[in-house]
Amino acid sequence: MRMKQWNIDAEAVNLYSNEIKEAAAHIAAGRNIAFPTETVYGLGADAAQTAAVDRIFEAKGRPSDNPLIVHIGDANQLHGIVDLSHHWIQRLITAFWPGPLTLVLPLISDTSISPSVTAGLPTLAVRMPDHPIALELIRAADCLIAAPSANRSGKPSPTRAEHVIADLSDRIDGIIDGGPTGVGLESTVIELADNELRMLRLGAITPNQLSAVLPEASWVLPNPSSKHTSPTSEQSLSLISDTVSQSHEVNTPRSPGLKYTHYAPTGKMTLVKGTSPERVRQWIQQASDAAQSRGEKTGILTYDEHKDHYEADVVLSCGTLRKPYDIAQSLYHTLRLFDEHHVSYILAEACHDTGIGHTILSRLEQAASYNVVDV
Ligand code: TXA
Ligand code: MG
Repeated sequence: MRMKQWNIDAEAVNLYSNEIKEAAAHIAAGRNIAFPTETVYGLGADAAQTAAVDRIFEAKGRPSDNPLIVHIGDANQLHGIVDLSHHWIQRLITAFWPGPLTLVLPLISDTSISPSVTAGLPTLAVRMPDHPIALELIRAADCLIAAPSANRSGKPSPTRAEHVIADLSDRIDGIIDGGPTGVGLESTVIELADNELRMLRLGAITPNQLSAVLPEASWVLPNPSSKHTSPTSEQSLSLISDTVSQSHEVNTPRSPGLKYTHYAPTGKMTLVKGTSPERVRQWIQQASDAAQSRGEKTGILTYDEHKDHYEADVVLSCGTLRKPYDIAQSLYHTLRLFDEHHVSYILAEACHDTGIGHTILSRLEQAASYNVVDV
């Protein structure tokens, strides 16, 4: 079937617009539709329809043991589905929803949620996106919408409709083009279990923002040997962040998605870190020159401040180091541009490792398949 496309102005959208009604009818009829959220584009299907959910896995080429996030338009939709009673959960919802925080919660038995959504786990990941198109679509479809990021598995998440079209146009039923997404990185995923909060995926909401809301909460990190209580000081917070980025070392990740390759461009990528910007620059330039003389098409991912200091086949800036949220917004688009230029060897310069910068670095590390050099 040909993919249907709707162009919707996010500022002017409402529940009764024909485009939303039409897209919602497709969801209700068991089709899958890509739509913008504030983080990245999602590929949505009615979470109660197993055949529709299974087609999402098929379209993405996603392993069936990697569960999906369910998107809601109103917290009342979760009654009888997950256990929301814990006061920490209530406070997180009040503070961050709608917004880029995903909560993994105990699933109440005998719900309408398809077991394909949870990959058979006894928990369900839920979030309320902060995007008018996503919210109106969910409300009009009048169901919970299961939606992973709308990319082929392993590729960077899509932050523009054209990314979705490039990856999935002949595999999905429709797309709502609502322009570029605002945040550009996926939601933060946390789980409440045994009266502790586990950070499963770094994301748009930083550990500092979370502990400002729940200073007394105990946190468990993906590495079982690291456990911290009440992360109120800057020091313990940075400890949390550092440990979270090492989650790939865990043999049995709590979040199944962590064990798969992510965000990777086609070219071989190396992330270069270091305390001396000059040494980093020299290392990158030399590595790029050496690769070029081996016949590689070289690419350098950098920032406005350093862009003019490099020479390679393709030099791309993700924005200014002074505005890390702008870097987050353009990161995946920039990674995809290297593919468009058929770059075979990419050197990426690390940004600052604070706040949202820490999440950006975690994505760059994954994009580089943990091929990281500290110079
Ligand atoms: O910002 C986002 O979160 C985007 C937009 C579309 O909402 N969605 C997204 O979905 O990034 P996806 O499927 O690409 O990533 C979901 C992550 C995966 O790492 C998955 O393993 C984890 O959430 N996850 C989902 N359900 C889980 C569960 N029950 N327990 C543990 N981890 C879960
Ligand atoms: Mg994804």
